[in-house]
Amino acid sequence: MKVEGNIEKYYHYAFPMQTILVTCNDDKGKTNIITLAWHTPISRKPPLYGISISPKRYSYALIKKSKEFIINFIPYSLVNAAQFCGTHSGRSIDKLCKTKLTLAPSKKLSTPLIKEGYAHLECKLVRSARFGDHTLFVGEVITASTDEDAFKNELLRTDKIHPLYYIGENTYTTLDRAKRKTF
Ligand SMILES: Cc1cc2nc3c(=O)[nH]c(=O)nc-3n(C[C@H](O)[C@H](O)[C@H](O)COP(=O)(O)O)c2cc1C
Repeated sequence: MKVEGNIEKYYHYAFPMQTILVTCNDDKGKTNIITLAWHTPISRKPPLYGISISPKRYSYALIKKSKEFIINFIPYSLVNAAQFCGTHSGRSIDKLCKTKLTLAPSKKLSTPLIKEGYAHLECKLVRSARFGDHTLFVGEVITASTDEDAFKNELLRTDKIHPLYYIGENTYTTLDRAKRKTF
């Protein structure tokens, strides 16, 4: 038997969603971090990645202006930092200071990456479009980089890396004991 769900929280059916930290710079080169669960690969050729951001976020204005952003895939161990960056605005606080996350220069953009992440996509904004109460920013992936032991033969090493997932209602999980089958 099916029971009727809450349309206002329809996106809960898509959980768990991998939770990422996106870095973006202001026009003085100061870096802000936003936590996102709404993101997706869009195209292989050219390599395009999409992130959905509400115009209410400070990061929205930063990405509109700088036209670049970095996707940082993070392990479960950064759960506190992700919750912090997802519940505070860079308008009024320095999230880097508060979370003690550290930055490293990216290869091709002026926006830096988060060292504690295990994989990074350097994205140049190619288009943005408003859909309802969010804006989809589409970035071309200019460079992709990872920790050297994070992937083997392009497969995430789930024995070593436990990615952070969000399941809604301020609750997170990971793939700690992932079942795995390769065909
Ligand atoms: C787990 C999690 C996922 C989130 N995903 C999104 C998202 O996909 N899009 C969005 O606009 N905000 C999302 N948020 C909310 C922003 O991260 C939050 O409003 C943040 O404080 C904005 O920071 P800023 O004002 O410095 O840009 C999420 C928050 C959490 C905790």
